[in-house]
Amino acid sequence: MSEAPKTDHAYDGIEEFDNPLPGWWKWLFIGSIAFSPIYWMFYHGGAEGRSIQDGYDVALAENTRLQFAEMGELVADRDTILRCTTKDNLLKVGKVVFKTNCISCHGRDGEGKVGVNLTDNHYKNVRNIEDIAAVIANGAAGNAMPAWANRLHPNEVVLVSAYVASIRGTFVEGGKSEEGKEIAPWPEPPPEEEAEEESEDDSEKETEKEPAQ
Ligand code: HEC
Repeated sequence: MSEAPKTDHAYDGIEEFDNPLPGWWKWLFIGSIAFSPIYWMFYHGGAEGRSIQDGYDVALAENTRLQFAEMGELVADRDTILRCTTKDNLLKVGKVVFKTNCISCHGRDGEGKVGVNLTDNHYKNVRNIEDIAAVIANGAAGNAMPAWANRLHPNEVVLVSAYVASIRGTFVEGGKSEEGKEIAPWPEPPPEEEAEEESEDDSEKETEKEPAQ
């Protein structure tokens, strides 16, 4: 013990040994520094699906999917799609379906790549909001836009349609230029159905006002 060199700190007769930090500790320290940029890049570098927020959205979507049985099959008509555009949790499911299946052609935020830009007011195959669901289910342009009816749950088609409708007008920067015709704005969502059991009191009033994002 007394062999170890001493620092020249001494206070009230108490001296301090100059012991080196153990090798394992130093390597752990250096290792964690070396590891941190990799960790940061992986989780915070902007890659799709890795952030806590994305993970939460996916979990929420899975959870909502479990409720499909209870919800019954949604009909891909105007009112249903419009109503879904006012429900945040449902839009999130639509968003996850979109991120999983559609971004390769339509871009991460719907700005368009091989597929058309879905964030402007111009559409090729869509005149009314329910046409979105029809195009998604049946495809378009000789399968350049694939048909999803056999690959997605009917509710997923409705929810991804609502999501697609909701990103209209976001005009994502650097998006593909407009194709097709400019169409009229979506109609107002219909009032909530009486039969619906969801917690209507608090959530509804706020979400209903929200414009289709
Ligand atoms: C293989 C590439 C590809 C994939 C994957 C794809 N799309 Fe498309 N999509 C296209 C193309 C190309 C068009 C334009 C069709 C045309 O020219 O009429 C299109 C058109 C559309 C339209 C109609 C837009 C308009 O202007 O009429 C909608 C809505 C749409 N896609 C939604 C989706 C959704 C939702 C998904 C995922 C479930 C998806 N697409 C996946 C290529 C794709």
